[in-house]
Amino acid sequence: MARGRLRQLWDLLMRPVQSTEPPPVAAPADGSRAVTPYHVAIIMDGNGRWATRRHLPRGAGHRAGVEALRRIVEAAPLEGVRMLTVYAFSTENWNRPQEEVNGLMDLFWDSFRTYLERLDREGVRIRHFGRLEDLRPDVRQGILDAVERTRNNDRLHLNVCLNYGGRAEIVDAVRAIVAEGTRPEDVTEDLISQHLYSHDVPDPDLVIRTAGEMRLSNFLIWQAAYYSEYYATPTLFPDFDREAFARALDAYNGRTRRFGKVVPEEPPVAAPVDSLAR
Ligand code: FPP
Repeated sequence: MARGRLRQLWDLLMRPVQSTEPPPVAAPADGSRAVTPYHVAIIMDGNGRWATRRHLPRGAGHRAGVEALRRIVEAAPLEGVRMLTVYAFSTENWNRPQEEVNGLMDLFWDSFRTYLERLDREGVRIRHFGRLEDLRPDVRQGILDAVERTRNNDRLHLNVCLNYGGRAEIVDAVRAIVAEGTRPEDVTEDLISQHLYSHDVPDPDLVIRTAGEMRLSNFLIWQAAYYSEYYATPTLFPDFDREAFARALDAYNGRTRRFGKVVPEEPPVAAPVDSLAR
């Protein structure tokens, strides 16, 4: 049987069972990966280029991006990943043409409406990172409903960065700390972390960027500052499928995370003395 057919059969068998009891997290599909990241963050880039290359309007690229995200959300627990943080709309994205911004807001609202019930059934907990107050009221309400409805789910944690900026996040944290009347000497890294949008989640283990750029673009700048591994792929986000995701996880599996310490290298294998003499 062709490998593709086997894969399809496997995917079918591994589909989440639709019940109120979320199934346990599956091991990575092929069992070959020793280490799987708990928390993967994704800069979903390249929707516009994907559409332009097909002579389609940019909005078609964003719709294809939603479909790609749906696939990754489905694949993540099957690959052993428990948390995804995705960059959907940055504080800088307001500078795009008004028509594109409106189209994106419509798409966010529509996606929450279309997928919320299914995500909830599949045990996905949704969190929002970003400034809610500047969002369109219907989008804001869609996010609040999604967060509330899924708050007890635990199979996959999906953090959606929408109207998110890493610097804005730090500014908001500092404002909250000042408003609490904290003394300067009591400000610590931990205290700042506790006031970020991400205060109740661990830092990302792996940050993936699609579409080939090598930039952080104001994404999780505090959380990824220390020990997140980076992975960039030329694949445009709408083409980023389970296999492309698995390649990123394989690359992570091959990394040595030092966490600032010295990790001893395996010494080179010495040649036998008698072979050197020849
Ligand atoms: C960047 O591609 C992508 C975005 C600004 C939007 C990403 C949004 C989605 C994939 C939809 C997510 C949906 C939900 C509900 C969270 P780009 O437009 O910058 O592409 P380009 O660099 O090729 O122009």
